[in-house]
Amino acid sequence: MRHVRFLGSLVAENGLLWTFEWTLSQLLKGVLGRVERSLESLERRRALPGLSGAAANRSIWDGYDWRRGGEEWTPSAEWKRSLTALIRERAPRQGAILEIGPGAGRWTEALQKLAGALTVVDVSRTSIEACRARLAGSDNVRYLVNDGRTLPDIPDDSIDFIWSFDTFVHVSPEDTAAYAGEFRRVLRSGGRGIVHHPASGGLRGGFRSRMTSDAFTSLLRSTGLVPLEQFDSWGPQGAFDVKHFGDAITVFAKE
Ligand SMILES: C[S@@+](CC[C@H](N)C(=O)[O-])C[C@H]1O[C@@H](n2cnc3c(N)ncnc32)[C@H](O)[C@@H]1O
Repeated sequence: MRHVRFLGSLVAENGLLWTFEWTLSQLLKGVLGRVERSLESLERRRALPGLSGAAANRSIWDGYDWRRGGEEWTPSAEWKRSLTALIRERAPRQGAILEIGPGAGRWTEALQKLAGALTVVDVSRTSIEACRARLAGSDNVRYLVNDGRTLPDIPDDSIDFIWSFDTFVHVSPEDTAAYAGEFRRVLRSGGRGIVHHPASGGLRGGFRSRMTSDAFTSLLRSTGLVPLEQFDSWGPQGAFDVKHFGDAITVFAKE
């Protein structure tokens, strides 16, 4: 009865046509929401990669327009400066650095200045081309396109520091597990890695994979790597963060 009275008040104030369209759109939203939830549940139950498999990532990012240089994902100049400062504090000087998923080189510029030798690896050729164009003239950078889960062109025990931001948030847990094994293989003893990844299994949107903070830590441990820190904010009083889509950053080492 209450619903009929409510609809009656809508008709009185907005007319029949508007009320009909509004009612239909509410019903469709409800149906679409249920379909979306059941697709997500199917993806989780069957451990499907959804949009986060290597082949899907290659298609998505090969077709991406890189002209904004990835800066479209930078929330503020201060936020970018704070993360660049974190790179400068943690990355070794003149070491061998590896970046996974550089995109158009948003972090690669800072890494290139610190590195003796920098290797950037991406599943997307167009990303690597954009990154190469941004760093044109740098003679310490090697560019590789890979299969989205392994690092066959990087020798064992050859890397001092791994950086990856805004990439593993889109990589399936299965491909991340393959990478974790590769991190263990390519890092030198004493080498470190810093990787940004989903913390809450993709439940907060943002086209995230099913990865969680605990699962990421377990993957590292299962390969013999040692998780050192996990955080979702940094800077003075945690002024900067990756909380919007429920992400975290994990620091790990090879002992
Ligand atoms: C959102 S962009 C971020 C680019 C850059 N890291 C930044 O922060 O601006 C995601 C990047 O990850 C790359 N990527 C996605 N899946 C990958 C995978 N399985 N292996 C390597 N790179 C991947 C994409 O091609 C793209 O360059």
